[in-house]
Amino acid sequence: MLVLGIETSCDETGVALYDTKQGLIADALYSQVELHERYGGVVPELASRDHLRKLTPLVRQVFAESGLALKDLEGIAYTAGPGLIGALMTGACMARSLAFALDIPALGVHHMEGHLLAPLLDQTPPEFPFVALLVSGGHTQLIRVDAIGEYELLGESLDDAAGEAFDKTAKMMGLGYPGGPRLAKLAEQGTQGRFRFPRPMTDRPGLDFSFSGLKTATLTCVNRLKEEATLENATLDDQTMADIAWAFQDAVVDTLVIKCKRALKQTGMKRLVIAGGVSANQHLREQLEKNLRGMGGQVFYPSLAYCTDNGAMIAFAGAQRLAAGQSDGNTPAPLRPRWPLTELKGLNACNQ
Ligand code: KG4
Ligand code: ZN
Repeated sequence: MLVLGIETSCDETGVALYDTKQGLIADALYSQVELHERYGGVVPELASRDHLRKLTPLVRQVFAESGLALKDLEGIAYTAGPGLIGALMTGACMARSLAFALDIPALGVHHMEGHLLAPLLDQTPPEFPFVALLVSGGHTQLIRVDAIGEYELLGESLDDAAGEAFDKTAKMMGLGYPGGPRLAKLAEQGTQGRFRFPRPMTDRPGLDFSFSGLKTATLTCVNRLKEEATLENATLDDQTMADIAWAFQDAVVDTLVIKCKRALKQTGMKRLVIAGGVSANQHLREQLEKNLRGMGGQVFYPSLAYCTDNGAMIAFAGAQRLAAGQSDGNTPAPLRPRWPLTELKGLNACNQ
């Protein structure tokens, strides 16, 4: 089954063609980073307008690259939530009207299910069941995954998501937007052990997270150092900034690793999947691999291109459900800025 996937939940326009027999056929992505950079974060109205500008050219591009035509399509998947409502509407309108014109089914896909299943696009995908750590700009969740759509929430962040903590801390350190990757890059130059920040909520049982205090701890450290840095020069040197970045990243990573190990022990599982933007973080990947090896576990993550938002993951997740006979039907459900992943049904349910 050939499926067109459309992702427009935030600041990336992603379009892809996925075939359930041949795999990923074409994939195009446009990032709005430059558009939002001067504002220090995503401006929702600008995001929607830019998706509108980019959607048609990107759809044309994937067809041109693949040599396929619109008439070859058998289904269209689009992100229906969670995300910015205006941005979601652009992709949904494009997908639903195209599906209506071609008389093929359309299906609204859960953005986080897209992330969660992205590692299955890999040559050596993980087998079910597994524990998934979803770490993006809006979510930090540990999920027990028994099959597609069979999700049990094991724990989640009570305040900031891990990606959000990276972004806010980066902004506070003057690194701008997008903060996560910039802070991670700066941390590469950092010295291990000069600073140490807390590992929130690791001293008590359970699988929930809290990252907002970590951001404050980092800010307090920066302010203290600035005060100490003499009155004539209130800026911190590059090495100090890098050392702080290292310590912040290490605290987030260490916290995630501790909770992942705990989740594997609790469920008796050996396979861990990490997905979402923060799964691109090299330190997180290395630390998880090292720690899981010690307990006979294995960690899976998407290739770098499919960690952050992209159309391929939506095409893939949508294709699994469309191929199982699920679709929006004549009355698509409303788009959802918030949408718990655990509300999804399995592939055998008559509809999502
Ligand atoms: O999955 P994603 O593209 O969008 C959401 O669904 O939120 O994730 C974006 C998040 C941002 O918070 C970004 O700063 C973070 O992922 N991120 C990173 C890295 N790359 C992206 N955080 C830490 N290290 C990275 N290398
Ligand atoms: Zn995302």
